[in-house]
Amino acid sequence: MLHRPVTCSIILVVLSFVSLAGNAKSPASESQEDNSKTAANTQKHASDSDESSYVGTEVCKTCHEDMPSKDFFKNYEASPHFVTTLDTKKGPEWHGCESCHGPGKEHVDGGGDKSKIFTFKDATPQQTSARCLRCHQYTDEHGNYDRSTHLANGVACIDCHSPHHAKESQFLMKVKSPELCYPCHMDVRAQFARPFHHRVNEGLIQCNDCHNPHGSFRPKQLRTNAAGDAVCFKCHSEKLGPYEYQRLLFA
Ligand code: HEC
Ligand code: HEC
Ligand code: HEC
Ligand code: HEC
Ligand code: HEC
Ligand code: HEC
Ligand code: HEC
Repeated sequence: MLHRPVTCSIILVVLSFVSLAGNAKSPASESQEDNSKTAANTQKHASDSDESSYVGTEVCKTCHEDMPSKDFFKNYEASPHFVTTLDTKKGPEWHGCESCHGPGKEHVDGGGDKSKIFTFKDATPQQTSARCLRCHQYTDEHGNYDRSTHLANGVACIDCHSPHHAKESQFLMKVKSPELCYPCHMDVRAQFARPFHHRVNEGLIQCNDCHNPHGSFRPKQLRTNAAGDAVCFKCHSEKLGPYEYQRLLFA
């Protein structure tokens, strides 16, 4: 069965509020906690188009390779984002460290002035995702993040991904699914622990097979298959037709 019987909707909706309030990190309220700091962070880099305000990743390296936080550089060199450093077609705002942290000249001229560089720890989920989406918005897979339930509820790209300190070898994940999802979705964890369930915890199916955590055009961030049908038919193609699955899905 689905992880959630339709008949239990109301109880579970209530539960999910309780569990999110109680167990989950509550990104929406976090993002509001320090508006002034955030406003300053944006203002500093409102216009990043002046090419002379960029110094290039090699310059960042001169200091950051030897700092106590030197793993920021080392990890970057080994990450998929390193390819942006080698991009010869686009301007400096698309290259390396500065493609995410914004222009670095003032930070460098100030001998590493912390107030003159964009930091993610001071950014709202909207600001963070806007930075990432500059490059990642052009695919169906991620292009809906702006209108996703996740962003609307204050979840940022970096709640799930870490460009510098990924724990998983693939996709810069902080944690592997479904463990990634469970701290914020305790009710779903309980559902997949029931006797009849899709074997998500066993690794046979991923949350991701049915949902797109980057948002979709369907309710509940559900995926469709290539033909635009409900996600179930991706695997249960023999059931295409007005049968039980549709009832389950749309009841
Ligand atoms: C002249 C040396 C120097 C250069 C060059 C340099 N930095 Fe820094 N950077 C520093 C110092 C010093 C700090 C402060 C470290 C601290 O106090 O923890 C810092 C801090 C930072 C921070 C963290 C700010 C914070 O609030 O914690 C970021 C992000 C950063 N640098 C990015 C960059 C980028 C991107 C470049 C290249 C455009 C760069 N730095 C080039 C010296 C430098
Ligand atoms: C793909 C985007 C991206 C690139 C490229 C990138 N960073 Fe970061 N950086 C982040 C994010 C996101 C964080 C905050 C969370 C974390 O640690 O992953 C961060 C955090 C940092 C911090 C700690 C202060 C803070 O903002 O929280 C430093 C210092 C830093 N980066 C330096 C660098 C340097 C130096 C480079 C180039 C070698 C670089 N970054 C390239 C995204 C990026
Ligand atoms: C709620 C968690 C979550 C959030 C938030 C999230 N992602 Fe992801 N992302 C994932 C998962 C899970 C995967 C792994 C997909 C897979 O296994 O196929 C992934 C994969 C990716 C990939 C590689 C997948 C591919 O098809 O190449 C990119 C790039 C990516 N995410 C970018 C982003 C960006 C940019 C944001 C913010 C705008 C973001 N993600 C927000 C969970 C998240
Ligand atoms: C300057 C453009 C640019 C920016 C800004 C950018 N990325 Fe990327 N990202 C890339 C490129 C290029 C790749 C490698 C794509 C590939 O291998 O197909 C990549 C790959 C990824 C992947 C997949 C890693 C893998 O193992 O395949 C994830 C996840 C990701 N980025 C997340 C982010 C997040 C989160 C941010 C914001 C903090 C961000 N990116 C900002 C260009 C960018
Ligand atoms: C077999 C497909 C499938 C898998 C696998 C799956 N889901 Fe779902 N999920 C659904 C469907 C379908 C709904 C909508 C149910 C409804 O509205 O009655 C849903 C609803 C949800 C909701 C919304 C619940 C609500 O009360 O509105 C969340 C959150 C969710 N899933 C998270 C997850 C997480 C986390 C995982 C992995 C641990 C996961 N799902 C795995 C199909 C799936
Ligand atoms: C940092 C916390 C956090 C993480 C991690 C997280 N989510 Fe969510 N998710 C939320 C919040 C907050 C909501 C909005 C409230 C709700 O609907 O439960 C949400 C909503 C959803 C919904 C319902 C969408 C809708 O339109 O109602 C689905 C499906 C979902 N998440 C799937 C996932 C999956 C799959 C993962 C893991 C890849 C994941 N989430 C990881 C916080 C998170
Ligand atoms: C990624 C592939 C995949 C997707 C997507 C998927 N399923 Fe399944 N489903 C399976 C597998 C595999 C089984 C067999 C049970 C097992 O071994 O976990 C199964 C079993 C079931 C069962 C139990 C009936 C039986 O024959 O044992 C139902 C009901 C079901 N799925 C409904 C759905 C619905 C509804 C959706 C869409 C929300 C869906 N499935 C999406 C792979 C999938």
